[in-house]
Amino acid sequence: MKIHSSAKSPVRLGILLSGRGSNFLAIAESIRSGKLPGVEIAIVISNVAEAPGIAAAAELGLPNAVLVSKGRKRAEHDADVAALLKAHGVDLVCLAGYMRLLSPEFVAAFPHRILNIHPALLPAFPGLDAQEQAFNYGVKVTGCTVHFVDDELDHGAIILQRSIPVLESDDAHSLADRILAEEHIAYTEAIACVVSGDYEVRGRRYVKKQGPAIRE
Ligand code: GRF
Repeated sequence: MKIHSSAKSPVRLGILLSGRGSNFLAIAESIRSGKLPGVEIAIVISNVAEAPGIAAAAELGLPNAVLVSKGRKRAEHDADVAALLKAHGVDLVCLAGYMRLLSPEFVAAFPHRILNIHPALLPAFPGLDAQEQAFNYGVKVTGCTVHFVDDELDHGAIILQRSIPVLESDDAHSLADRILAEEHIAYTEAIACVVSGDYEVRGRRYVKKQGPAIRE
């Protein structure tokens, strides 16, 4: 599976979302404005029919699909999602507020080709409501993490993190808003890093290569 782009053959993203879709829209805007050359969105898939993000994808004229997951066995739903991504020639899967755990089979189908964004500095505060968890814990610094997806929740090798201070004036909502602004920058940066191909993953460590990139 190709990950680096060339003029003839862009890297094709598959976006999975369940809700608002602001990270998806930030990625789409980065592509539109030329911040992610050689990258295109192949398809946006929601597991929730009412997700505003999927309506936004349709409005932008991007290929989009709803595959409702509720009530379905994880492995069966994931097999359908993987098949649709493959049918659209997806190289890199970006989870953008996809509120569903992935089956090991799905992860194995896209090895080191699935990214997730999490609204905390992992490994602190994995799981739901991470911003509120961090605020209630009383941390003075928090932020967001873009990481590869492995079989464990919010766990794979970290590509990059962006941090912000927690202000005296913050509440959980204002903090989440300021983290979200960082997420929108971080996701584009992480996609650019991965698409460059100039890295290797050593154990848990995402490491930029020295010297010229070795292309697959
Ligand atoms: C973001 O906070 C992201 O970090 C988390 O889910 C939220 C999705 O927001 N995984 P949006 O749908 O991209 O606006």
